[in-house]
Amino acid sequence: MSATDARRVLDYHDATKHHFTRYARGPGGLDWASQPYPFRYYLEAPEVPLDHFPDTPDISYDELYLDQPSLIDPLDARTIAELCRYSLGLSAWKQFGASRWSLRVNPSSGNLHPTEGYLVLGPVPGWRDAPGVYHYVPDRHLLEVRSVFPVGLWERLMAGFPEGSFVVGLSSVHWREAWKYGERAFRYCQLDAGHAVCALRFAAALFGWHLSLVGNWSTEAMAALLGLDRREEFPPDEREEPELLAVVTPGPWAGPDLSLAHELLEKIRSSRWFGKANRLSSRHVPWTIIDEVADATRIPPGTALGTAGRLLTEESSSPISPSPAGARQIMLQRRSGLAFDGESSISLEGFLRILRRLLPGRHPPWDALPWPSAVHLVFFVHRVAGLPHGIYALVRRAEILDRIRASARKEFLWERPGGVPADLPFFLLLPGDCREVAAVLSCRQDIAGDGYFSLGMIVEFSTSLERHGAWFYRNLFWEAGLIGQILYLEAEAAGGRGTGIGCYFDDPVHELLGLQGHEFQDLYHFTVGTPIEDPRLTTLPPYPGEVPV
Ligand SMILES: Cc1cc2nc3c(=O)[nH]c(=O)nc-3n(C[C@H](O)[C@H](O)[C@H](O)COP(=O)(O)O)c2cc1C
Repeated sequence: MSATDARRVLDYHDATKHHFTRYARGPGGLDWASQPYPFRYYLEAPEVPLDHFPDTPDISYDELYLDQPSLIDPLDARTIAELCRYSLGLSAWKQFGASRWSLRVNPSSGNLHPTEGYLVLGPVPGWRDAPGVYHYVPDRHLLEVRSVFPVGLWERLMAGFPEGSFVVGLSSVHWREAWKYGERAFRYCQLDAGHAVCALRFAAALFGWHLSLVGNWSTEAMAALLGLDRREEFPPDEREEPELLAVVTPGPWAGPDLSLAHELLEKIRSSRWFGKANRLSSRHVPWTIIDEVADATRIPPGTALGTAGRLLTEESSSPISPSPAGARQIMLQRRSGLAFDGESSISLEGFLRILRRLLPGRHPPWDALPWPSAVHLVFFVHRVAGLPHGIYALVRRAEILDRIRASARKEFLWERPGGVPADLPFFLLLPGDCREVAAVLSCRQDIAGDGYFSLGMIVEFSTSLERHGAWFYRNLFWEAGLIGQILYLEAEAAGGRGTGIGCYFDDPVHELLGLQGHEFQDLYHFTVGTPIEDPRLTTLPPYPGEVPV
């Protein structure tokens, strides 16, 4: 990796840590007059309405995780509409007094939703003939046509893929998060993108489809495909940063990556493009450190993550206790807990089920990530029936165990807890009540101490960046976001609720664990518990004519 890019990533990461005595640099207050509008539209782009399909029979929530789906649905107007709806669509409107705001299937730090979604589609039988690029508009549940491809481009792009395959793209509007969170916002954009990837992977699983990230396109090429390099069509300061592409295939897929030839980019640029991006804010505060880290983490041409990484992930063969929940129901009812009751507990069986879901494997959603898992979890266990409270670790890649043990505090026990099957790489580090320490480390947020458990996501940091390049900084957050999304859904399936926690004190967590330097870094926290609802909030349906979920 370029030494300069590596330095810029480390500088950014260190500069955006929260400390007990000082938070990462932010705006120091909210300027409501410049609050970014939550929805992007491409003005004057042709619109393609998407229908709602309330009568589609649901599949079981557990089926989302199957690597061999029992049924594969065709690509058509229904499955396109449902893919969007169950990944990036609205899940509710909330009202408090005169204020009204929407919630989405994918969560977002501060509900600011920096992530924009694009589909690159070929002819869809009975729906549209013209291949091209579409932008999804969640509040109106429709697609805007961004481009129509010239003849032959679609066939070249998708050469080698089965019929019914297509591409999904995600981008971030950094300003949306930076408006509230300042310099740390780039991290939140990446975590949000990870949540969105997982939401898309599960939505694809509703139809038995496969979805995995493309590992060989440069950021510049992604920008060209999604039309994000058409600078004149975006207000300055509100440009979208390309994050990732994913290929969706009908059924399991282990074939080659998406082809990329230089003349393809020329053809993409010469497509017919439509629309101009709407303005989101009347004024902006520049956060140059975000522009710098975005630049340092762009994927250079010629980079290939390849598909080999997928094969390195581990497969857990132990059975998972079944859930009676429906997949669509769980996706739509997912919410963040605002407060937990500080009393209720989860059964050991329920907790072990969640642990198993968090282990990587060749099944969804892990099959979306073409790299070996690099994120490990440190649990603060408060209320798990039959499990003594204390600090525990779930080591998600066996080869790393010795290294983590050697780096962590010497007094940690690394004991296998009673009642936990031996095939689960779950260890007791330190027994004792850790409710207060968990809350304090999560920026003194009570939710981290009042639930069944909370956790920190400790990633193999410097070695991952050295192995892949500085751009892999983003991927580490995406993996953490995937873990967060599973936790959100598993919390609902267990009858509880989850909340992502982007605000935590970085180095104090490292100190607690005895971790020094950049070998391991904490990138995200999460908490799960029994929620206390706020009776002052009214829940309204996500779209007209629907019932609130
Ligand atoms: C990356 C990320 C970080 C978050 N950090 C916090 C946090 O520190 N504290 C908190 O109370 N909620 C946090 N949340 C929850 C969001 O505020 C919540 O997702 C958002 O308001 C949308 O609500 P919903 O999840 O119910 O759809 C976070 C969510 C995400 C995805």
